[in-house]
Parts: sequence; C-alpha cells; structure tokens
Amino acid sequence: MRTPIMAGNWKMYKTIQEALAFVDAVKEPLKTYPQAEKAICAGFVTLAPLAEALKDTQIKLGAQDMFWEEQGAYTGEVAPTMLQGICDLVIIGHSERRQHFCESNDTVNKKIKAALAHGLTPIVCVGESLDQNQAGETAAFVGEQVKAAFDGISAGQAAGIVVAYEPIWAIGTGLAATPEEANRIIGTVVRGTLTSLYGQDTAQSIRIQYGGSIKPDNVEALMKQPEIDGGLVGGASLKPEDFITLVRAAAQSAAR
Ligand code: 13P
Repeated sequence: MRTPIMAGNWKMYKTIQEALAFVDAVKEPLKTYPQAEKAICAGFVTLAPLAEALKDTQIKLGAQDMFWEEQGAYTGEVAPTMLQGICDLVIIGHSERRQHFCESNDTVNKKIKAALAHGLTPIVCVGESLDQNQAGETAAFVGEQVKAAFDGISAGQAAGIVVAYEPIWAIGTGLAATPEEANRIIGTVVRGTLTSLYGQDTAQSIRIQYGGSIKPDNVEALMKQPEIDGGLVGGASLKPEDFITLVRAAAQSAAR
C-alpha cells in the first residue's frame, strides 16, 4: 500500500509573509488527514522560515530545484548541503526548468543522485509536450525520461524516489489529463518502465503523482485512480482552502 503524497509546488509565488500566513491557515485543518503525506515546495528564501513554522506539524517541506555540487564557485546556485536539515524533499527536473533553464536528462540524473546522497527525497518530474502527445510519442518520450533519470540508481534508492507525471500541455492550462488517461500513462509507461528497470516489487512501491491543472473539482476523480499516488499541484496549492481540499481527496484515496 503506497501512502499518497499531495505536494504544492508554489513556483515563483509567495513572499515569506505570505508563506507563513498560508501555514497558519492550514496547519490545524490538515491534522484531520494523517492518511496522506502533504508537502509544500516553496521558493528558496522562504524555506528557512517555513521550516521553523512547520516544525511541529506533519507537513513536509520541499525545494523546487538545487545544484548537484556540495559547494563551490557557482554563483546563484543552491547546494544540497544547504537544503539538508531544512527540507525533506526537492523537486528535480520540472518541465519549467527543462524548458527555461536548460535542464537535461543528464543534469536531472546528477541532481537526483545528489539529493539521495544528502538525505533529500527527490520528486522527479517527467512529461510530454502537446506536440509529442499529438504525434503519439508520449510512451517513448516519457519512458526515456524515466530511464535516464534513474540511470545508475539502485533498487533500494529508487524505492525512496517520488515521480511526478506532469504532461506539459496540462500545466497551468486548466486542461488536466482525464483521470483514466493519467492512470494509463502512469501505470503502463512510468510504472511499466520502472518495472523493467527494477522488477515488480520495487516498481510497485514507488509513488507516482499526477500533476497538471489539478483543482478542487477534479482532484477526487484523479486520486481515485489506482496508479495515481497523489498530486503535484501548482495554482490550486496557493490557496489554503483549496490545498486542504486536495489533501482531503488524497487521504480519502488512501482509505479505499
Ligand atoms: P498547475 O497545477 O498550476 O497546472 O501546475 C502543475 C505543476 O507544474 C506542478 O509542478
């Protein structure tokens, strides 16, 4: 039984004050849903104050990226050693980073290894573009992304990684994948590739989220799908009441 994980990816939103006000609003209501893991992935400057505010809660904290080197002359970068002790998780290879900041399958793989080496749980993002989807290339492209991301990673390490399948055409567009289609790609392509790499037992233990226009009104149907183990949510994770609704749906899916 995989514990669902509902994670907010705040992207480049929320000042420190706004982030702390969000925590104040959600920390009591979220205690009602221990069946789901919940996490907030926030901007770098908000992480330290958020870590303090989240101390006595069950809400995990994640960064949205990091560099793979431990330290060095890399102006503007944030090292895994800086996140250690503050964060539990780190998003790696989000499509916005692949698109705007030259992330490649190779840098994604390096970052995953660095995260694991520093006790951070990677949330590894994969997903196809609209053109690839329409050309029938989803399975080949996403399968290759998964293979490249997990290159050189042992089964034991793989079991602790979270994958987020986020079709690029569904991100920020209001056009989520249908629950059935998201379930099919996650099951056959993402978990299928993980099965070919690591075998049934390990692949069955890896949590795979769906991401892309998850909203309070579609979250239940998505979370009910057997292959979907939670969500990675942008826009709808910014409002406390919406985030609580998302976590509730994930918790209910665990109770099935
Ligand atoms: P939206 O939920 O805003 O579509 O963003 C999804 C996403 O990119 C989460 O990482």
